Amino acid sequence: MEKIKTIGVFTSGGDSPGMNAAIRAIVRTGLYYDLNVTGIMRGYEGMIAGEFIPMSRKSVANIIQRGGTILKTARSETFKTAEGRRTAYEQLKQHNIDALVAIGGEGTFTGANAFIREYNVPIIGLPGTIDNDLIGTDYTIGYDTAINTVIDAVDKIRDTAESHDRLFIVEVMGRDSGLIALRSGIGVGAEAILIPESRTNIEELFKRLEESRKDKSSKIIIVAEGDEVGGFEIADMIRERFPKYDTRVSILGHIQRGGKPSCMDRVLASRLGIAAVEALLNGRKGMMVGIINNNVHYTPFYNAIKHLSEADPSLLKIVNILSL
Ligand code: F6P
Repeated sequence: MEKIKTIGVFTSGGDSPGMNAAIRAIVRTGLYYDLNVTGIMRGYEGMIAGEFIPMSRKSVANIIQRGGTILKTARSETFKTAEGRRTAYEQLKQHNIDALVAIGGEGTFTGANAFIREYNVPIIGLPGTIDNDLIGTDYTIGYDTAINTVIDAVDKIRDTAESHDRLFIVEVMGRDSGLIALRSGIGVGAEAILIPESRTNIEELFKRLEESRKDKSSKIIIVAEGDEVGGFEIADMIRERFPKYDTRVSILGHIQRGGKPSCMDRVLASRLGIAAVEALLNGRKGMMVGIINNNVHYTPFYNAIKHLSEADPSLLKIVNILSL
């Protein structure tokens, strides 16, 4: 194996709070080990277009507390093509980049896998997504901040729901995963949580509403974006079955991706950033670095991107026992 002298770092896919803390950790760890660090703008898109910038200790000062990503991000269609990956490889060669640290989620690691197969570029991944839908880490960077953003928003919705005696359906992010919905739903004391991992049984939901406490005037139902029914449709069904409920729908949307990262996300990103650079120096590649039970773990990309098909039964149990 050739000695690594320069590493490239980029963020890709949906941004998540804590990505900047991860960039900072990667740059400073690289410099600590006497490597050159190059920032690649706009993920794979910028790699293809040759948008590279040298990174220094100073270039990552004062960013640990900022949401978004200073390197910007994109979902690249061109990198999905062999031609796009060839151009990206040529750009890396031209700029003397020997290895990469990719911060992103499923799409990022799928692209990285294809790149390694074709060009054998050493790549280590950091889990950067609010969805927490990767195998090989207890939590992804941005998840903690996102669920806290959700509970902040729903606490406010609860105030108005309570004042008007209303039922609110709140749709949260998670295209393929209900983990934002599940944990934030428990955190806000939701009456029901609907997620893509379990088929939405409308009759069961109706029964739950029927059996719910009559002395509690506001009701909150959290629905994951990826649920097969969806917030507006569920609201229509509830209106038809329970005309007595004054039902409203609120879609939280991209507010969940922004904002300053929580302390948990900053520390997670810092730990993983160091572990990623050290992994490259130790000859690892094609793996995502994560934390399981407080220990660093490396999971091959092809395993990391496999979705959990079932929600944690212990979390589901909490909802069933506590929410009525
Ligand atoms: O990155 C994850 C995520 O926030 C999903 O929860 C959501 O479905 C998706 O990204 C939205 O993507 P976009 O910003 O491209 O609309």
